[in-house]
Amino acid sequence: MAYKVLVLKGDGIGPEVVGEALQVLKVVARRDAVDLEFKEGSIGGHAIDAFGTPLPDNTLAAARDCDAILLGAVGGPKWDDPKATVRPEQALLGLRKELGLFANLRPVKTVKELVPSSPLRPEIIAGVDMVVIRELTGGIYYGKPSERREGKDGREAVDTCAYTEQEISRVLRYGFELARDRRKKLTSVDKANVLSTSRLWREIATELSKEFPDVKCEHQLVDSMAMHLIRRPRDFDVVVTENMFGDILTDEASVLAGSMGLLPSASLGEEMNSAGYRVGLYEPIHGSAPDIAGRDEANPLAAILSAAMLLEHSLGMRGEAELITQAVEGVVRDGFRTRDLGAGAGAKMVGCKAMGRLVRERIESLNGEN
Ligand code: IPM
Ligand code: MG
Repeated sequence: MAYKVLVLKGDGIGPEVVGEALQVLKVVARRDAVDLEFKEGSIGGHAIDAFGTPLPDNTLAAARDCDAILLGAVGGPKWDDPKATVRPEQALLGLRKELGLFANLRPVKTVKELVPSSPLRPEIIAGVDMVVIRELTGGIYYGKPSERREGKDGREAVDTCAYTEQEISRVLRYGFELARDRRKKLTSVDKANVLSTSRLWREIATELSKEFPDVKCEHQLVDSMAMHLIRRPRDFDVVVTENMFGDILTDEASVLAGSMGLLPSASLGEEMNSAGYRVGLYEPIHGSAPDIAGRDEANPLAAILSAAMLLEHSLGMRGEAELITQAVEGVVRDGFRTRDLGAGAGAKMVGCKAMGRLVRERIESLNGEN
């Protein structure tokens, strides 16, 4: 039976990086005789232009009917008018909510060879290995009311941050379970000194921690966490936080890895797919980078690593995911760099396509060794 993968390339560099990731998936599928069936859908600015909506009904229907989704990026200056009522980003928020993808996993690991090109000191970032789990379907991103209005003193706007006990506990539980499989440390991040939602978050994290006595649970306020993340990033293993804090902290954390162009993500819900694993949406954490779109300059590694996460989390193919990760590390170790990774001494500069090809060749050669 074929597993259905929905491919949403999106805007800007999305089509280029997903194109490479897709070819990597095909190489791995051929090697393991896994039947993957790819279907493409329109999303984001591309879909606004073609259908007048960022998330067309047939894209959503295809998303509900597949085993996993691979997504590039959405957005661009063409659709950036703050007054516009349809925006590409609505597609992402809609997909996450409609599919119930509440746990967004963003692993951050330093690659030794890239440490010298980081703006941070090598002794601080060497050996960083954490997973940030961002709650993805609640909080201020979705709370109602969220609107512009006329107040008695002129223009006003309001957004609402709301969380239920169930929304908080399921994502924290996912975090505790993951921590159990890793270094057994969980950092719960909130703003409990100011926000009611955060006080509920902390209360539930404390209660849940009793079910996981083998996991060391600590609480951090988000502002000081922003500082600890760059001061002592090695101390963190699993970090769990609410939607908006997770959005901000993961951009910060991407600097630890060397470039946003390296960081993949997985968004998982409770629903199981035909492979018996979680349905998931896999995407690089970087945006659509319209300034370099179509120039073969983008870094496809985050998209390729997202494809690896897809194999692991939605199809249970851990070995294959590891093979892709090793291939990516090998190519970086050999000195190949896209522009975002910096041109250090001995760097061999390559474009998006060449980087993708190098990873595939590496997979074939690692394959020979297995
Ligand atoms: C992310 C992005 C999105 C978010 C935007 C594009 C809506 O920044 O996935 O981190 O804020 O969730
Ligand atoms: Mg973000």
